Amino acid sequence: MTRLGVLLSGRGSNFQAIADRVASGSIPAEIAIVIANRADAAGLNAARERGLPARVLPSKGVEREVYDRELIEVLRSYGVEWVILAGYMRILSAEFIRAFPQRILNIHPSLLPAFPGLDAQQQAFDYGVKISGCTVHFVDEHLDHGPIVMQAAVPVLGSDDAESLSRKILVEEHRIYSESIVRLLTETWQICERRVIFTQEAG
Ligand code: GRF
Repeated sequence: MTRLGVLLSGRGSNFQAIADRVASGSIPAEIAIVIANRADAAGLNAARERGLPARVLPSKGVEREVYDRELIEVLRSYGVEWVILAGYMRILSAEFIRAFPQRILNIHPSLLPAFPGLDAQQQAFDYGVKISGCTVHFVDEHLDHGPIVMQAAVPVLGSDDAESLSRKILVEEHRIYSESIVRLLTETWQICERRVIFTQEAG
């Protein structure tokens, strides 16, 4: 079983959607450890309630490189092969990215490359786009930038506000994050330049 390490900073709904799919056997993996950089992250309790190993590594006031080195060590001690960012509100150091080459995923609530950074749904809403959505991508050393695994689109209606748009996007986030993990673990794929190409189903 492939061992996943989940990093989060808050609510953890993406983590929970993934954990549900792991528990039901539809994601062929196990969650080896859930790590939060804040003690008040609600996702931590959700992990503990599920009986999953969960740890807090407080990041406040710790230099990025020092913090990430500790993170690498802890993830390795749990045998983590894939790192799943699920609302993890910190930029990762180059050393961290190098420690898990092509094995770090993130989800972002916009159709990248539009609206990277914080409050993507609000940014999209304020811009007046008619379609937004979410993106699962590999993580590289730039913010919300690595090769795209999957995207899902959501229409922005006249009756929407940023909150209703966020809710609709979140439903798609929960769907495509799990689906991306399944595909990456069960199909053969390669990254050519920026393109993630699924070649054939494995097994
Ligand atoms: C999600 O909108 C995700 O796209 C973004 O952070 C938010 C995390 O939400 N990266 P949750 O903690 O998974 O509920």
